[in-house]
Amino acid sequence: MSKTFYITTPIYYVNARPHIGHAYTTIACDTIARRHRMLGDDTWFLTGTDEHGQKIERAAQAAGTTPQQFTDEVSGKFRALWDRMGLTYDDFIRTTSERHKRGVQALWKRIADAGYIYKSHYTGQYCVYDELYVDAVGAGAPCPECGRPTETVQEENYFFKLSAFQERLIELYTKQPDFIRPETRRNEVLSFVSGGLRDLSISRSTFGWGIPVPDDPRHVIYVWLDALANYVTALGYGSEDTTKFERYWPADVHMIGKEIVRFHCVYWPAFLMAAGLPLPKGITAHGWLLFEENKMSKSRGNIVRAETILDVLGADALRYFLLREIVFGQDGSFSFDALVQRYNSDLANGLGNLASRTLTMITRYFKGEVPYPSNAARSPQDAAIAEAAAKTIADFGALFDQCQFSKALEAAWGLVSAVDKYIVENEPWALGEKQDEDSRSRLATVLYTSAEALRIVAALAHPVMPEATAKIWAQLGLGEIGKFDLTQLRWGQLQLGTKLGEVQAVFPRADKSAIERMQKMEEAKDGGASAAAGASVVGGSTQTAATPVAPGSSAAPVKTEAGKAGAVAEGKISIDDFAKIELRVAQVKVAERVKGADKLLRLEVDLGNEVRQLVAGIAEAYAPETLIGRKVVIVANLAPRKLRGLESNGMIVAASIEGGKPVLASFLEDVPVGARLK
Ligand code: ME8
Ligand code: MG
Repeated sequence: MSKTFYITTPIYYVNARPHIGHAYTTIACDTIARRHRMLGDDTWFLTGTDEHGQKIERAAQAAGTTPQQFTDEVSGKFRALWDRMGLTYDDFIRTTSERHKRGVQALWKRIADAGYIYKSHYTGQYCVYDELYVDAVGAGAPCPECGRPTETVQEENYFFKLSAFQERLIELYTKQPDFIRPETRRNEVLSFVSGGLRDLSISRSTFGWGIPVPDDPRHVIYVWLDALANYVTALGYGSEDTTKFERYWPADVHMIGKEIVRFHCVYWPAFLMAAGLPLPKGITAHGWLLFEENKMSKSRGNIVRAETILDVLGADALRYFLLREIVFGQDGSFSFDALVQRYNSDLANGLGNLASRTLTMITRYFKGEVPYPSNAARSPQDAAIAEAAAKTIADFGALFDQCQFSKALEAAWGLVSAVDKYIVENEPWALGEKQDEDSRSRLATVLYTSAEALRIVAALAHPVMPEATAKIWAQLGLGEIGKFDLTQLRWGQLQLGTKLGEVQAVFPRADKSAIERMQKMEEAKDGGASAAAGASVVGGSTQTAATPVAPGSSAAPVKTEAGKAGAVAEGKISIDDFAKIELRVAQVKVAERVKGADKLLRLEVDLGNEVRQLVAGIAEAYAPETLIGRKVVIVANLAPRKLRGLESNGMIVAASIEGGKPVLASFLEDVPVGARLK
């Protein structure tokens, strides 16, 4: 029986649509799953969506719809995008599905029956964004993970005896050092757990969007217990049919982003230990995709959508770029410039050019049939390519299995450049002009060697670029690449006389307009704040206010004039007038008192694509430290002005209540930084 291989992505929150950060993890898993299938493993690849919890409930409210309708819609968008990208997941789990709910309740019962759940009172801070109980103290205290203000939770809850698992977890990380990869993440977890574990609240009773606790439906199960269980419920855990669970559990790899390591490496194994279930074999955490130095995230609003890249360069280009450009495990920047540059250098000029020149010459000089290399016409250069290819096969596999995708691809592209150099040195086009037998033999050897190296690169790169390599394979006359047994890949398998397919360019060169087109598409996308727009909130015409003022009050420089749509009644402004005021959501990063000015605070606020300094007259109402992480509304296009020697670039919006005390405008729902109010 073949070996089984089970790989999972995190299940993504459906509070907003997918972006290339989600695509990154899903592509990495798809690539690994494809390689395992090519190696003959019985592979299962799971992805899905995380649809319960307060964050989703609020996102649905903000969208003016029910949580179920909202999650149906957004989950559908994730799935449609994965389908459009040709991702080969075997199952897509939704946490609102019956099979999942039943499985989660079964898991809860099992943990409860084992004596690890008790009821108690919880008072503390909760970060809705991270769906995480945090140690911060006081209402609005910033979340230590994300800096957003936390909310106070005070309720009777069910608790999980996490503290009972400290020793067992440490033993796990010690005895199985590759349980958490890479090592930096393992060390963080080890030191976190060594610092002591407190019991974990695993139910909520003050909102309803979740799975009811068995026998006590006033409580819903904590969204992270609910979500983590997907890895087993999707296999049928807790249902009548547990065939898949028995076949694929424990998972070989849970692939995740580095921000959710604690949930996967501490809570999840502890839940499983409590339930007496086998633990996953390993958890691999990758870094963040950054856009202009910041983590790309839906709440920050600096996202790039996969669709844009698919439209302009195609899925293979995105897959190759993400896996080649970013050192897996580390953070890496995304930019359209870098994407197009890589595409042109490695794909259009690299692999694409190797394929088209080799196959075109075989077509021209050998009527489209793989030529016979002749022993008499061999040179040490040919043997060097064959050796390099054998080494590439071994290195690629070893690096890939350690998730070192960029190095694995670098190795394969090392072979591409070696063959390019070989072709240039051997000048097959010159040999092709000669009719003598020696030249013909040499030409046959050179083109056979090039075509065979091309075949090997295509086979290795297939999991990364399924479409393009399938085309190259077909052009080589080799049929369906997906059916190729990768364990058998060796030099010299290309059959002499193989009839080539129709030769076509695989990666047409992209010009500068590709970058502009992608940037324009991102600017045009809905949702206001755009990563690619870059300059959308960089205002020249900004000013400041020492005192916060609400829009429409006298300090806002609005002159009434007749709007384009017609005359405007006296005392009113037209919509065009209002549109001149650029109100945006900003997040406070730095707040400090201004020396010698009791009323003033100096703030640095993040607008998604720039950080600016503001000086605001709110020091009597707000202590600076309470503002860090808070999202505020600012007038982003006021002309700059100096206060106490400090330049202020914008104005914070607040209600003015009795005694002139300012109360900052804020939102109940999570809003992306940079979003425009209109
Ligand atoms: O955390 N760079 O869901 P989520 C790299 N529902 N990867 C990124 C990324 C970025 N900028 N942004 C997102 C949740 N990701 C939970 C998970 S699992 C039982 C529950 C990827 O929608 C990365 O894999 O916030 C990250 O861990 C995941 O999306 C978080 O997705
Ligand atoms: Mg997240």
